[in-house]
Amino acid sequence: MSANPRIADYAINEQFINRWSPRAFTAEPISEATLLSFLEAARWAPSAYNSQPWRFLYARRDTAHWERYLDLLVPFNRSWAQQASALVLIISKTTFAAPGTHEEKPALWHTFDTGSAWGHLALQASISGWHTHGMAGFDQALARETLKIPEGYELHAMVAIGKLGDKASLDEALQAREVPSPRRPLSELAAEGDFSL
Ligand SMILES: Cc1cc2nc3c(=O)[nH]c(=O)nc-3n(C[C@H](O)[C@H](O)[C@H](O)COP(=O)(O)O)c2cc1C
Repeated sequence: MSANPRIADYAINEQFINRWSPRAFTAEPISEATLLSFLEAARWAPSAYNSQPWRFLYARRDTAHWERYLDLLVPFNRSWAQQASALVLIISKTTFAAPGTHEEKPALWHTFDTGSAWGHLALQASISGWHTHGMAGFDQALARETLKIPEGYELHAMVAIGKLGDKASLDEALQAREVPSPRRPLSELAAEGDFSL
């Protein structure tokens, strides 16, 4: 691991290492058009059969939905995400009809595809000067009930979106974690030919 945790081993566009997930946000409002531009980037992700299984539910701060969404988070995540500008719940449709058919079948790749869409969202937000922070820490059953999500959709993650705030707003333990994180070397993750990782 290099001293600077965000030096790429191979040449890549800097957008990939500029994106990171802070917890200090400025609590400023976000326009719906700005938020939708991040979801627009997600919309253009690739998916099996171009089935586009991803769905996004969102709340912006200073709207009637904001507290309802905050209430879905575990207390730790709520403690910092309440300073974000928007919360997005990412879900996906678990079945699809193959092109030329009307029969719904299990969409075996809906999670893979939706992860790709989340990646687009996060990168577009970062390119636009915003930050995202994915969260598994929320009450899935409560979210399904509160937001009236029907059967046939799987819940994945909440995403806090905001402008980078002053880390002094966080407690000391969180301040220490308010830095871009490193990655495993590519040699531990990729092998030519047979599995050797
Ligand atoms: C699906 C998912 C769930 C996550 N859940 C949480 C969470 O509940 N709380 C939290 O503080 N961070 C959470 N994270 C943030 C990760 O810890 C973070 O993305 C990871 O450490 C890599 O750091 P980076 O995003 O700054 O590159 C989550 C990230 C993802 C993608």
